[in-house]
Amino acid sequence: MSQRPRAAIASTGRYSPARVMTNAELSEIVDTSDEWIYTRTGIRERRIAADGEGAADMAERASRRALDQAGLTPSDVDLILVSTATPDRLLPSTACDLQALLGANDAGAYDFATACSGFVYGLAIAEGHIVAGHARNVLVVATEKMSAIVDWTDRATCVLFGDGAGAAVIRPADDERGILSSYMKSDGRLADLLYRPSGGARTPFDVAVLGERGHLVKMTGREIFKSAVRSMCEAADAALQRAGVTADEIDLLVPHQANIRIIEATARYADIPMDKVYVNVDRFGNMSSASIPVALDEVREQGLAGPGSVILMVAFGAGLTWAASVVRL
Ligand code: UT7
Repeated sequence: MSQRPRAAIASTGRYSPARVMTNAELSEIVDTSDEWIYTRTGIRERRIAADGEGAADMAERASRRALDQAGLTPSDVDLILVSTATPDRLLPSTACDLQALLGANDAGAYDFATACSGFVYGLAIAEGHIVAGHARNVLVVATEKMSAIVDWTDRATCVLFGDGAGAAVIRPADDERGILSSYMKSDGRLADLLYRPSGGARTPFDVAVLGERGHLVKMTGREIFKSAVRSMCEAADAALQRAGVTADEIDLLVPHQANIRIIEATARYADIPMDKVYVNVDRFGNMSSASIPVALDEVREQGLAGPGSVILMVAFGAGLTWAASVVRL
């Protein structure tokens, strides 16, 4: 095992909006069915944020739980890193809005945009700041209000996503626990497989954008599916190899929750049986980067993994980006 300085996950927290939207309800909005959605994706229902409830609000709820679990107060936080594909405002960052809500006035704060891979990227980013000595208590938060950016007239995408937030406190590791490896990749040539075409600086939001629904998510599902399986398998291999850990030493795989078929294909490839794979896509759909930290918090709460357990996290998303991490909890 490497003796380099490391960072560890000290605690986790999550928040799910109260509103549950079932597949049956969706079938009243678009031409779909519970049978189609469940068979193709494994999703039964998802959570939808309330009107006026934003990414920073959800992030605050998840963050307060993670801070409580770590025995910290907001003023102990040195750095806030927020992963979101759904910032409340384009300026300033959601991280700064979260900082204000928390009253974490001694922290630095910034957003980063790696879509569904965000939490796994965030662990590596936090570790970098900790090992470099920039910060000791880093809050990594993934918060996604996907319901605000999906096209509710497009049945091929709107059935897949849900809202939620997950958080973790990352601190210097003082024993065997900690992040054992990280792997991050991306391929910007494939950006247009999953994207929001306009509404940013190149094509600012206007009436034409609104008419074309160009500010909403467009996705080429089949191609994304193939890329997801390929890249999640590559990332799992690389993270295991970098950690010097074999698949049978993994206590639990906590994958990005986009589609049960992608999860099963990744587990099969990584040679990890499904009884060692955590799945909650049935209850939450794809919460983009919030999927993994929400799953991780459930895992810890249910005692499925605890201090000393070795877990593998693997994610994939728009960018395209993909990432994996092996962590001893
Ligand atoms: O975090 C990454 C985010 N993105 C993803 O993870 C997406 C990855 N891709 C997928 O999960 C799958 O490609 C989907 C679940 C999106 C689609 O499953 P698929 O097996 O690849 O179906 P398809 O796109 O090839 O569509 C099959 C049929 C089409 O009809 P025709 O052309 O065969 O008549 C679609 O129009 O299913 C139709 N269809 C639907 N039918 C009922 C597409 N969406 C729906 C729907 N309900 N919601």
